[in-house]
Amino acid sequence: MAKNNNNKIFKASWTYDEAPESTDHIQIKKQYELYIDGKFTKPVKNNYFDTTNPSDGKKIASIAEASTEDVDKAVKAARKAFKGWAALSGKERGKYIFRIARLIQERAREFAVIESLDGGKPIRESRDIDIPLAANHFFYYAGWADKLEYAFPNRDPKPLGVVGQIIPWNFPLLMAAWKLAPALATGNTVVLKPAETTSLTALKLAEIIHESGIPKGVVNIVTGAGETGASIVNHPDVNKIAFTGSTGVGKYIQKATAGTNKKLTLELGGKGANIIFEDAAIDQAVEGIVNAIFFNQGHVCCAGSRLFVQESVADLVIEKLKRRMETLIVGNPLDKNTDIGAINSKKQLKTIENYIKIGINEGGEIYQPECKFPTQGNWCAPTLFLNVSQSHRIVQEEIFGPVLAVQTFRTIDEVIEKANNTPYGLSAGVWTEKGSKIFHLTQKLNAGVVWGNTFNKFDATSPFGGYKESGFGREGGLHGLKPYVKFE
Ligand code: NAI
Ligand code: MG
Repeated sequence: MAKNNNNKIFKASWTYDEAPESTDHIQIKKQYELYIDGKFTKPVKNNYFDTTNPSDGKKIASIAEASTEDVDKAVKAARKAFKGWAALSGKERGKYIFRIARLIQERAREFAVIESLDGGKPIRESRDIDIPLAANHFFYYAGWADKLEYAFPNRDPKPLGVVGQIIPWNFPLLMAAWKLAPALATGNTVVLKPAETTSLTALKLAEIIHESGIPKGVVNIVTGAGETGASIVNHPDVNKIAFTGSTGVGKYIQKATAGTNKKLTLELGGKGANIIFEDAAIDQAVEGIVNAIFFNQGHVCCAGSRLFVQESVADLVIEKLKRRMETLIVGNPLDKNTDIGAINSKKQLKTIENYIKIGINEGGEIYQPECKFPTQGNWCAPTLFLNVSQSHRIVQEEIFGPVLAVQTFRTIDEVIEKANNTPYGLSAGVWTEKGSKIFHLTQKLNAGVVWGNTFNKFDATSPFGGYKESGFGREGGLHGLKPYVKFE
């Protein structure tokens, strides 16, 4: 009880002045069109949908909805551009990609603000993580464009052709970069679709791509929801689909492409294990737990949403974690103090709230710090559940929100078995003083990425991707070139 009082005193005695990022320099049009064949084009059926700001529910702009006809136009433009783009020397292709990277850097602040306005993530993250990493990804693959012969020694890599790319709303610009950069570096042409709640930075990127002078039709950006995505997947003249999103849609796409010549990579959901051993640096581990699950409101496929703490330090870790959670600031995404921004959509908020109910109904012990939410918008307090076990739904299913399920363990073998007891296999984290333990677990955990004494670190040079229901194929690094080439 005494400790809790300390927390209250801490929160009461620390107030922050608001430090909102300015929006004066931001130019957002009332209406956005499709980017097809080097032109901003009206949709054939003239349908538009709204994109809103999840922190106040207000409309930001109208976005064109691409129909099957529009997607067909985009694919045709990409097909027409393919021969010329593939025939360019790697050095020439690289020039355009470098240009895109530099233009993103120049307009980084504008991109960061729009990303936070449209998607709800804290400006601290869009400014320091999303946008720099997106520029970095273009820089990195621009560097590969003229070195493919070294990436694949003694082989002759050829581009696949027209690539359809469908991305989610949790890292809108960054996922566009992850998809476009390697595809372009290897000589493919692209039809890309951003997610319907977060189209704006992809459309701003279309402006930059246009400005880069890249030949028309090499990149086409079509906006819309699931139906538009399905039109790309089902188009007969697309050579490859690259998808990041839910496991459900991933399964649908796998079925839809089965028996066709379309190549496929899927980056789907996750239920990452974050494992804290008794010999870990506890304070750092607590920061790591917070970063693993509360980064980007927990809208992270590789989030550390299952925490495993060794029994001997469990009480201490949980006490420190609760205290740290008390200090997290939930609110205006544009405020530089904010740790947890707005939940991306009403639909996603409902999903998260439903899982919280399920957790309580199944007997989990919930903890949420007191939070003052703004009066409008989609908000969720950082949440943890104690008293849960492997069979609880909140331990098994992806929530995609700021909700952490905590379990304890005694031995290494026990935690390996528990950590692997999931349909997913995307990420894991291991916190210990012993390097050998990290290497041991890296081999035993079924996860595409295992972080040692850190979490949610991304780097353009490092491959990322899943096992099992988390999908297949790798993005980033040398590995990320492979899904975009064939060898004849
Ligand atoms: P979603 O998978 O429906 O959306 C991702 C993208 O796929 C969007 O661009 C969407 O327009 C597109 N899409 C939807 N249906 C499609 C179809 N039939 N064919 C082709 N493209 C289609 O994800 P949603 O509904 O927004 O989120 C639901 C859950 O999915 C979340 O609660 C979360 O658990 C998971 N998710 C995982 C992501 C990840 O990075 N692994 C990203 C987004 C969501
Ligand atoms: Mg939006």
